[in-house]
Amino acid sequence: LKESANTLLLFGATGDLAQRMLLPSLYGLDLDGLLPPALRIVATARSDLDTEAFRTAAEGALKRFVDADYLKDEAVARFIARLSYVALDASDIAQYGRLAEAVGSTEKGLAIFLSTAPSLFKTTIAGLQRAGLAGDNVRLALEKPLGTDLASSRDINDAVAAVFPEERTFRIDHYLGKETVQNLLALRFGNALFEPLWNAGHIDHVQITVAETVGLEGRVGFYDGTGALRDMVQNHMLQLLALVAMEPPNQFSATEVRDEKVKVLRALRPIDASAVETNSVTGQYQAGAIGGSAVPAYAEELGQPSGTETFVALKAHVDNWRWKGVPFYLRTGKRLPQRQSMIVIQFKPVPHSIFASKGAALKANKLIINLQPQENIRLLTMAKQPGLDRDGIRLREVPLDLGMANAFADTRRRIAYERLLLDLIEGDPTLFVRRDEVEAQWEWIDAIRNGWAAKAMTPRPYAAGNWGPSAAIALTERDGVSWHE
Ligand code: BG6
Repeated sequence: LKESANTLLLFGATGDLAQRMLLPSLYGLDLDGLLPPALRIVATARSDLDTEAFRTAAEGALKRFVDADYLKDEAVARFIARLSYVALDASDIAQYGRLAEAVGSTEKGLAIFLSTAPSLFKTTIAGLQRAGLAGDNVRLALEKPLGTDLASSRDINDAVAAVFPEERTFRIDHYLGKETVQNLLALRFGNALFEPLWNAGHIDHVQITVAETVGLEGRVGFYDGTGALRDMVQNHMLQLLALVAMEPPNQFSATEVRDEKVKVLRALRPIDASAVETNSVTGQYQAGAIGGSAVPAYAEELGQPSGTETFVALKAHVDNWRWKGVPFYLRTGKRLPQRQSMIVIQFKPVPHSIFASKGAALKANKLIINLQPQENIRLLTMAKQPGLDRDGIRLREVPLDLGMANAFADTRRRIAYERLLLDLIEGDPTLFVRRDEVEAQWEWIDAIRNGWAAKAMTPRPYAAGNWGPSAAIALTERDGVSWHE
């Protein structure tokens, strides 16, 4: 049963994520009339501000991060009036009483969003419980990273579970809030065309690329202790893989969707010490150029040499009936040539070419799902090239295009967090990650990291502005496959 919360308590409210994403998202929801009219937003962080000062800062954040077309004075004023601020040292359990006072009764529903360092999660949860902010009408959302391996993730999950039951725990993977990611489900299960072909009988392999041009972005402490595998693959890329590979849930709802995803995650073949050398490639960017501008090496940005990978490519398998023998090639990295996230479904060739005798070559169909920054779906098909060729028939690959931007031109492009914040407030966990999913993800990632350690694998250098080290190309070429570019 859905019940909207009437208070949102936001931890880490002066942080980067809150300023860049969360406040603009909440504003966007308010602008569209989607927030419960009485919703109050209690913001908290360590900074010694009062409500007036926080409201001014929040207004500044909206001006910086919301498209000017959508900044309407009246809507801004209405949104700002919802905000209040409590300064709090979240590591001091004695201070949580002040929060309880600011929140007041939780009877009408409280949604809590932790956008703080995970090292604070346990104390925060204990503090919330002690202050009476963990009752039946309270739900808790947690930002990543939820641990650094299976053991630490279990530790956090246990601490959460001791106070918040799973149905009131909302683990965030912001990729699930992206329209294009949800559209994967629409594509697969809203159309009769694809699903009959969506299996090992017809699909040769799948590629998932999440490429970024940015480097460290000043996140020195966090990123160097994390690396691309844990920062991007453990969560976002495995969620994408699960959505591509899962069986049709019988309905679009939390239990059914997550049951199907977790089956896929559990069916991932471990890439352990015996397999890491053939099925994984890591890299670290060196100095190079992106879009014509010179950029420094990772170690230089960091200020010291490091063994952290900023790129990873994997060849994964889902060991089940549907995907027998179909490789899933994954790659992600910083300082790649362009920002681009896409999923490529490579179909098998036709069983027999009737055009071979005429010398015409056929290319197997490919479905390209561009998630960002372009949002479109293209199906590469063979078509006859117009002309009266004497010696036969010429064929050419032409895309059937579904430009999402054109099809839905008049809708505002939403931030992924808008969907997630709304679902948190309304209590719908479908697009949040369940404990068993996170743990299956970590288990698979841990095997890879242990494998790297056992084989003393270190990241290979690649020049910024390239698609990772050459070994990442070799990873697919060995199978006669090229990365789609
Ligand atoms: C975050 C990672 O989870 O996702 C960042 O910590 C990364 O390193 C970001 O840049 C990418 O998100 P998006 O939405 O820009 O693709």
